[in-house]
Amino acid sequence: MINIAIMGYGVVGSGVAEVCRVNKETISQRTGQEINIKKILDVRAFPGDPYQDRITRHADDIFTDPEISIVVETIGGTGIALQLSRQALLAGKHMVTSNKELVAAHGPELMALAAERRLSYMYEASVGGGIPIVRPLHKCLSANVIEHITGILNGTTNYILTRMEQEGIRFDQALTEAQKQGYAEQNPTADLDGLDAGRKLAILGSIALGEYIDSNLIHTEGITTITPTDLLYAQHLQMKLKLIGRYQLLPDHRVDLIVAPMLISRKHPVAAADDVFNAIMVNGNALGEAMFYGRGAGKLPTASAVVADVIECALHLDRLPHQRIWRITDREIVRPHADCPVRALLRLHECVPGAQIREAFDAFGARPVEARLASEQAWLVGTDQKLTEGQLEDLLRPFAESLVSRLRLFH
Ligand code: HSE
Repeated sequence: MINIAIMGYGVVGSGVAEVCRVNKETISQRTGQEINIKKILDVRAFPGDPYQDRITRHADDIFTDPEISIVVETIGGTGIALQLSRQALLAGKHMVTSNKELVAAHGPELMALAAERRLSYMYEASVGGGIPIVRPLHKCLSANVIEHITGILNGTTNYILTRMEQEGIRFDQALTEAQKQGYAEQNPTADLDGLDAGRKLAILGSIALGEYIDSNLIHTEGITTITPTDLLYAQHLQMKLKLIGRYQLLPDHRVDLIVAPMLISRKHPVAAADDVFNAIMVNGNALGEAMFYGRGAGKLPTASAVVADVIECALHLDRLPHQRIWRITDREIVRPHADCPVRALLRLHECVPGAQIREAFDAFGARPVEARLASEQAWLVGTDQKLTEGQLEDLLRPFAESLVSRLRLFH
């Protein structure tokens, strides 16, 4: 029997217990031994819960128990979760986590701490919920140089944009719906501002590159200013508007990284992911394209990935950890945002003379293409010439007051 503990008995933690209970036989067959949840750490009591007798408020009950070999962390955040993860590794426990914020911020430290002690620190559930993506990147695609990663990495924002597109409703209405459905947190700022997707992109990028990418270096924009008219433009252009995270390896070994709402062709496989679904496309130099699609959030999908890590860990208890740790380097890894190429749809108030816009872009050698839909100015820029984010910013400065929206085109 392999004894495990769960730290944090919230949505994901209780999902882990449920998957272990419901799929007990299958898991035992695959592990060769029974997985027994011996302790659950939480400050709350759970009367009537099948595991109520295993709940403890004292983390030491887990760390000092020599029978517990694997600890699952489903607390979330970087406060107490970081402290307890360090303690668990120092106590010689293998770890499995779903905590993307912690992995993105402190992954190198925790992975190094684990490796020094020949322990595993596993985080499949931190990206894409139940979609297998962390292990495939580590293992199945390890013969490839990863050139691009394109993903819809946040279920909440994808649900909101899908509802806005399909029902023509406003952002705030779609957000209320997402909260009622239990997809968005009561404080959904990290989702809506793109930070959650940025952390997931940093994790995937760090695996792909083998070097730690700090998510704070990623240019990140959210979806709070998106309007139903933006979605009408998407339809008009045969596109969808999605919160896209993009990683691109450059010939000089730096990377371009961005999380922002982007207009993407309806035919692009990633654009097929609607509602709370996530989609991640990986391009490797040997394989070409591979697509990963599925439920990127939710209790059981996320627990599915956590328990798979527990099984993987259980199968490797006495062997060296089989995951690569991320090197920390001091070279410039991320190309400055201002130097990145951009294509965009610009919407401006009608009072700005179209000739003035055309003149500004023509003077720069960029010929904007008119894409007016409503009674306003709308121009596609960067589609047939090189335009960088910094140049676009400069060109738009005189029109700042009149700019209604700037939507990037995925390319
Ligand atoms: N809040 C996240 C999302 C949960 O909506 O995608 C899964 O990481």
